[in-house]
Amino acid sequence: MTRAITAHVTRAGAMCALVAGVLLLAACERPPVDMVQRGFRGTGMDQVYNPRTIARQASVNVAPEDSPAADANGPKASAVFKNVKVAGDLSVGEFTRLMASMTAWVAPAQGCAYCHKAGEDFSSDSLYTKVVARRMLEMTRHINADWSNHVAATGVTCYTCHRGQPVPAKVWSMPVPQKQASGMVGDNAGQNVAAESVAWTALPYDPYTPYLSQAADVRIIGDTALPTGNRKSTKQAEFTYGLMMHMSQALGVNCTYCHNSRSFADWEGSTPQRVTAWHGIRMARDINTQYMDGLTRVFPANRLGPMGDVLKVNCDTCHQGAYKPLYGAGLLKNHPELKGKKAAAQAPSPAAVAAAPAK
Ligand code: HEC
Ligand code: HEC
Ligand code: HEC
Ligand code: HEC
Repeated sequence: MTRAITAHVTRAGAMCALVAGVLLLAACERPPVDMVQRGFRGTGMDQVYNPRTIARQASVNVAPEDSPAADANGPKASAVFKNVKVAGDLSVGEFTRLMASMTAWVAPAQGCAYCHKAGEDFSSDSLYTKVVARRMLEMTRHINADWSNHVAATGVTCYTCHRGQPVPAKVWSMPVPQKQASGMVGDNAGQNVAAESVAWTALPYDPYTPYLSQAADVRIIGDTALPTGNRKSTKQAEFTYGLMMHMSQALGVNCTYCHNSRSFADWEGSTPQRVTAWHGIRMARDINTQYMDGLTRVFPANRLGPMGDVLKVNCDTCHQGAYKPLYGAGLLKNHPELKGKKAAAQAPSPAAVAAAPAK
């Protein structure tokens, strides 16, 4: 009896060793994923890093070479050029460097002629691309000057979104309502098709319009133990989850980069990054409504989405899979001209200080 049991156990042991060996071999074929603990032990706030995903992200998040700063002295662009409406505060040297940088960041293959028609005076506004670029210049200054609670000192340049091409790789516009594949059940209520926008889940495939164009409330969890008073529907919760899938994918992170999964609503248990993300949602909405929408009529039809709206910005436009765009390698420090009007950055005059009410 004892011998029989021993034999059985030995056979089982050999079997286990075999299975373990096969599993080990299988695991060795591809590099394993890495786990990094970000919260208190036992709270499950780990980040999973897949080396294959990281390699893909890293290749698109390299900051380009930059040119040395130009001479800030000398006559102002506004005094020398004819039709300068935004960057007139720069010296001619700084202005010319900015033109060269904008070309490298947005239209390196096309050159100056992408915005200035060959043979025409540089002051002409005949190309729509120049009109768009002027507004983009104002937008970039606004982001850096007024959204520092999101972009911090890293800031953004044209390159953050454009990455060397006229139309940024990651943009969105309103989708054409999709029918079910079978055509039998008709309208799919904006969901239930594996959509890239929500990381190939069946969640609503346009989580952008409600939150990044309109000001729908992201919050869906009630703040009482019993379901009293919470009027949020399952459908609204699905839209929130759609946005969350987009945010996680755009930053290359898991939910617990921002949340403690004990309570997704609770701010106390959340990471500081969740606060940055909160501002990011408002910033994307501001960019889309105050700048992008207003350009709709400037763009030719082939630059608009299928529903006729302008191509807009989401988290991925800047982040492109990285927790910080270009892994935080900002070019703004070499381009103070993109940080808003120079006058605003100057110290207040002593008279203004004296006139200010005492604290
Ligand atoms: C992505 C679009 C874009 C590209 C590419 C571009 N520019 Fe410009 N350029 C502009 C905009 C926008 C203005 C007006 C800026 C303003 O109103 O403050 C401008 C204005 C100018 C002016 C002032 C003309 C005047 O008299 O009003 C000059 C000169 C100029 N650009 C030269 C260049 C040169 C040289 C290049 C190539 C190295 C170049 N630009 C590439 C968008 C562009
Ligand atoms: C926050 C992201 C973002 C930043 C920063 C940004 N852009 Fe854009 N830009 C866009 C988007 C999105 C579009 C596409 C709109 C469309 O095609 O409907 C666009 C389109 C353009 C176009 C039109 C290209 C075409 O072929 O139709 C030009 C020119 C342009 N941007 C210039 C600039 C310049 C110059 C800067 C820096 C001063 C800049 N952009 C900064 C997001 C950005
Ligand atoms: C980059 C940070 C970030 C990531 C990653 C993230 N979230 Fe969020 N989440 C937020 C922010 C910010 C809010 C609040 C937004 C607001 O109120 O405007 C929020 C809100 C929520 C809410 C609503 C909470 C309430 O008060 O009702 C849920 C549920 C949620 N997230 C789930 C998730 C899930 C699930 C994931 C992973 C798929 C995820 N989040 C990933 C930042 C993040
Ligand atoms: C206009 C470009 C732009 C857009 C759009 C944008 N971000 Fe960011 N984001 C940045 C920059 C630049 C930083 C780096 C700031 C810094 O260095 O602290 C950043 C940083 C962050 C961080 C902090 C990461 C960390 O580890 O400290 C989070 C979280 C974040 N963004 C979430 C979002 C979310 C969510 C969205 C979409 C709702 C979004 N961002 C849209 C430019 C952008």
